[in-house]
Parts: sequence; structure tokens; C-alpha cells
Amino acid sequence: MDEPLVSYCSIGAGRQPLAPCTIVIFGASGDLTRRKLMPALYHLFHARQLPESFQIIGVARRPYSELQWREELLQSVRQFGRPPAPDSETWEAFARRVFYCAGDLEDPATYSRLAARLQASEPAELRHHILYYLATKPSQFARVVERLHAENLLQPSPAHGWQRVVVEKPFGHDLASARALNQMLAQHVAEDQLFRIDHYLGKETVQNIMMFRFSNAVFERLWNRDAIEHVQITVSETAGVGDRAGYYEEAGALRDMLQNHLLQVLALVTMEPPVSLDAEAIRDEKVKLLRCVRRYTPEEAARHVVRGQYTAGTLDGRSVPAYRQEPRVCPDSMVETYVAARLYLDNWRWSGVPFYLRTGKRLARTVSEVRIQFRPTPHVLFAALCAPTPAPNAVTLRLQPREGISLRFNGKVPGLDLRARPVRMHFDYNAEFGAYTPEAYERLLRDALAGDATLFLRRDEVETAWAIADSLRAGWADQPLRENEFYAAGTWGPPAADALLASTGHAWHEPLLLP
Ligand code: BG6
Repeated sequence: MDEPLVSYCSIGAGRQPLAPCTIVIFGASGDLTRRKLMPALYHLFHARQLPESFQIIGVARRPYSELQWREELLQSVRQFGRPPAPDSETWEAFARRVFYCAGDLEDPATYSRLAARLQASEPAELRHHILYYLATKPSQFARVVERLHAENLLQPSPAHGWQRVVVEKPFGHDLASARALNQMLAQHVAEDQLFRIDHYLGKETVQNIMMFRFSNAVFERLWNRDAIEHVQITVSETAGVGDRAGYYEEAGALRDMLQNHLLQVLALVTMEPPVSLDAEAIRDEKVKLLRCVRRYTPEEAARHVVRGQYTAGTLDGRSVPAYRQEPRVCPDSMVETYVAARLYLDNWRWSGVPFYLRTGKRLARTVSEVRIQFRPTPHVLFAALCAPTPAPNAVTLRLQPREGISLRFNGKVPGLDLRARPVRMHFDYNAEFGAYTPEAYERLLRDALAGDATLFLRRDEVETAWAIADSLRAGWADQPLRENEFYAAGTWGPPAADALLASTGHAWHEPLLLP
């Protein structure tokens, strides 16, 4: 008989029925709205996860009519949404609640029009419960928030209902700019109204890290320096920069991926158990962990951090250009499309254990996984007789694609000889639970509407992560890229990254190839 399911509402506070509300999206004609937000909102509606009464108001400069915008959204949901594709009845019911407010975000009149529209909304809760989603360029965050405040549309302690602001990354460019942004936002928005997104936290398997660690006694007992030899976190993509060169030339892999997604995964894999599943308790533990990440001097960073940039190569049998040949990339750009770092956590549990993090574009495969490598057996009983020597145990948390968890151990190859071979026990999400996995943005939007901040970043968390990123970056400062920091598209990264691990006696593990 199947085991009963252990039921959790969500990682954070339990679910309450959602109150009627308005969702205002600034940057409504942008890519994020089309690719992520609208498909997510539609699927939430389809799954009856939105309140009975709600409205969505898109704000952007393009002079769309309501009908034009709805038509464009339908195309977006068809193109970027997950199955099932929208059926006409559900779509019509959804689209009736979607409105468009054309206007320049710099122009105060835009906010007066928005205010008038909100004032005319019924029932009254639509005027008091408002989620503002800033899907705009970061340079516009300040203006939007100031204008909302000036129109009395955003109050730090609203007399009725709630008003929340969701902020997209990049949240600053370094510690100084992140602090300045936080200070500016804090003038008009209380910390508990601010929901800073890191979409990795909305991924099902990223949340499963906590479930795996803290609901299974077997592994948590081994989750420390005594049993674990080193850890590798890989987030690799085959995609290049696409049409985002304008942003990427300012960011690079360290700011774009390591400062946020990889450090978040690291924190979840290594933090202490929280005292409860409450948002603050979990975020307290993540911040505590991030504070333990050893800060390097620039000289140390140069030894522990490696960057890279892709040159032309072949991916899936197709030639792809070098980063420097991508549209809108500077022909002698020094921006890193790859970064790898060896980090140490200076705390009781992890002292001395190296954590290797790597991420890059145009790598051999798109895969995100965490590999926990255990220490070898103390006495290699089989070493003399077995060839090859039995490999140490490893647990791999596959975050995407083919989400799952693998345990590697040694088995005897059947036969008269004594031969060992690593074998694995594999748990496959889809095979066990079926293919339904809500998109990260579905969960995050649902949580923001419910006021559950567990999966969003707190101010101190963002600032601590920037302090780490800044210290890693100082290792290369304004130095030009060296020859061993370039890698051909379609490979696993630059030779310098292999040398980084070799210097501590390790090698990168090729991510699992799952059937
Ligand atoms: C974004 C980065 O935050 O994450 C992109 O800006 C990157 O450069 C993307 O491609 C990866 O997200 P996912 O969900 O596809 O792994």
C-alpha cells in the first residue's frame, strides 16, 4: 500500500483564503509580464488559486486598447504558459478581469489615472488590497514608489487592507547600490510590505531541499564536516545572452546568478534548522548562514574565484557565436559569462569543507544540481582487491530538469571476482508525483497575495549576499580576461575553473545524465 502523504500547506505560514484584491503590474508591455507573470496569473486562475473577486491592471507606455492588450496576453499565455493551453471559456472569464492603463511611468498623470480607476473599483476590497508588481527597469523603482505614495496609493501602514510591493531583480548592482535602493524604498514602504523576488526560491525542488533535510533523520545526521568532504553547486545553461545584452553587459554571471540564485541554494543546503516554518525564522537562518561565508581579501579572491567568457562553439550540432559577437555586446567586452568560486563557511558545522559554486551561459547542458560528496570510508578494505577503488558516497539534488534526488553507493558486481561499481538509488519527481509542478512565478505570486514572505528576500539577506558578491568580484577588479578564462560554447567552462578545483585535489563532476 502507498505511504500516506505528509501534508504541508506551504513552507511558510499556513494558507488563508485570499481576500478580493487588485494586482497592478508596472511594465505591463515588457518581457517579464508576457513570459512569466501573465501565464502564471492565468494558471492560478485556472487552478482556482486566485480570489473570487480580483482585477489585474497593467500599466505601461504603449498605447494599447484594453482589447489589444488582452489579445496580446492570450498569445503570450499560449506561447509561454504550461499546459493546459487556455480554453475560450476560462480565458474569457480571466480576461474580463484584466485592464490596461496606458501612461508614462515618469508622468504624474499616469498615477492619477490609476488612482481614479482604483477608486471606481468594486467591491471596496479591490481598492484596499493591492499588490504592486514592479516589472520595470530598476532605474524606475524609485519613481514608481514615490508617485504611488504621493497619490496615497501606497501607505506604510494602510488604514484598511494591505498594500504590497513586489520588486524584481536586479536588486542593486553592488552592496552600496542595494543599500541605497533599500533606503529609498524604506521611506515609503515598510519592510513587511516589500517582497523581493528570487525566482529560484519558487521552484518546487529548491523548496524540497528543506523538506529533504529536515523531515528525514537519516541525512541530517550526516550533514556536516565530519561526513561531508565537499559540495558542488552547478547551475549551467546552454542559452547565451539572447536579447538581454544591454542588461548583461552591466551585470555578468556573478551579479546575474551567483549573488542571488546560487547563494540562495547554498543557504538552503547548509543553514541550521529553523525554529519554525515561519517566514522570519527561515530567513533568520539563511542570513545567519550567509554571514558565515568567508570574506576574501582581493588576493584571496583571486585564488578562490574564476571567471570565464564563451567563445564561438557548437551546441546541439549548431554553431553559435562568441559572446563578443552577440548583438549589442562590446567587441572587447570583459564581462564574465561564467563564474566559479570556492567558498568556505566559517561556522561549527561546516568548518574546512569547500563549497564549489559554478554557473555559466553556453555550457554543455542546461542543468541545476547540488552534489554532496561524502568522505571515503576510513579503512579501504576493498582497495587492494577491487578495481577501480570503491567511490565515496554522494547525494545529488537535481533541481532542474528531471527533478529528483540520487544516492550513490557501491555495489558488488555479480561474479566470482571481487569488483565494485558505483550504483544509484534515484527518486524522480515526475515518476513519483506526476508531471504537475507549478511554475515558480505561480507560487511566488500566490504567496505575495497571501502575504507569506518566506520565499522572498529580506533586506539584510540581500545586503549580505551583495557583500559576498563584492568580495568575490574584487579578485579580478579591472583586470582583463586571461587566456585560460575563455571557453568554447558547448563545453563545461574555462580551463581556469578546472585548475581551481585541482588546486584542492578535486574535479568538477559532470552533472548526472538521467535516462
Ligand atoms: C535569471 C537570470 O535570473 O535566471 C538569467 O537573469 C537566467 O540570466 C535565468 O537565464 C535562469 O533561470 P531558470 O529558471 O531558467 O533556471
